[in-house]
Amino acid sequence: MSAVVDSAAPETAQTNQHYDLDPRIFGLFLDPRRKYSSGYYREPGLTLAQAQTAKLHFVADRLGLRAGDRLLDVGCGWGALILFMAQEYSARVVGISPAGNQHAYIAGRAAELGVADRVSTVQGHFEHAALPDGPFDAVTMLGSIVHMPDLGHVMRRARSLLRRGGRYYVSESCFRNAAARDEFDRRSGTEFVRQSIFGWGDMRPLSDLVRAAEDAGFSVISVDDLTDDYRQTIDDWIVNVDANAESIDRIAPGMAATLRRYLEVANAGWGYTTKHYALVCQRSR
Ligand SMILES: C[S@@+](CC[C@H](N)C(=O)[O-])C[C@H]1O[C@@H](n2cnc3c(N)ncnc32)[C@H](O)[C@@H]1O
Repeated sequence: MSAVVDSAAPETAQTNQHYDLDPRIFGLFLDPRRKYSSGYYREPGLTLAQAQTAKLHFVADRLGLRAGDRLLDVGCGWGALILFMAQEYSARVVGISPAGNQHAYIAGRAAELGVADRVSTVQGHFEHAALPDGPFDAVTMLGSIVHMPDLGHVMRRARSLLRRGGRYYVSESCFRNAAARDEFDRRSGTEFVRQSIFGWGDMRPLSDLVRAAEDAGFSVISVDDLTDDYRQTIDDWIVNVDANAESIDRIAPGMAATLRRYLEVANAGWGYTTKHYALVCQRSR
């Protein structure tokens, strides 16, 4: 396990303010892997932990991941995906995120799981960080592209890092369409999540992501609607926030109520103003 710091990046990016919170807070409402994105609830009665594991298998399936493949996870969070792909699929993985706290956590988990030899991370912004040489067999972005202003640059860079035939997986929350963005982008709930929680974020309609992928030269392979899965995921997170509110507030006073408001705002719009999609593309030439 190695961690490289991108010295060109600002020490603490605006988009980091949420992810730089004390990592113990995330351990108090996420699943044990600390996966901070939608689960996959396609069998009745799944727990949050089971749904997150099912989601990781879903991603591997969409990527056609095989043992020894090289995978780059952009916005790797607490390493749920890279650690899982290294452990379960024997993939050689690189994670990148600007949030300093996440890298030490991932290094510790990689050592505990015995996969440190095939897991590395880069601290920085995907847009301009120095990355290990390609080509990669797969590039993934789960819940991170919303924090990147220049879609065209991001998708061109993702494509340039892939081998021919390599796959690019993005799952992201989207406005239901351009009209919903025009109507709701500046509403108070959206501004609260954008500024008070994350510092910066730009949710788009799926059509913007598809257009940017096409313009970057990708072939679009599949689109899955994961809206109900994310609603269930957030419901499960809210149950955990409520159950652990005192412990969360002991670490950061008032944080349980802030988190609850964020999660409630996020869950209020599904199907009406917002959707959650998994988009899979291929570098076919
Ligand atoms: C919602 S979290 C998702 C984490 C992880 N993908 C998961 O599913 O658990 C978004 C992640 O994107 C990272 N991020 C934000 N801006 C980024 C950028 N410009 N380049 C790379 N990662 C970024 C954050 O630090 C955070 O780790």
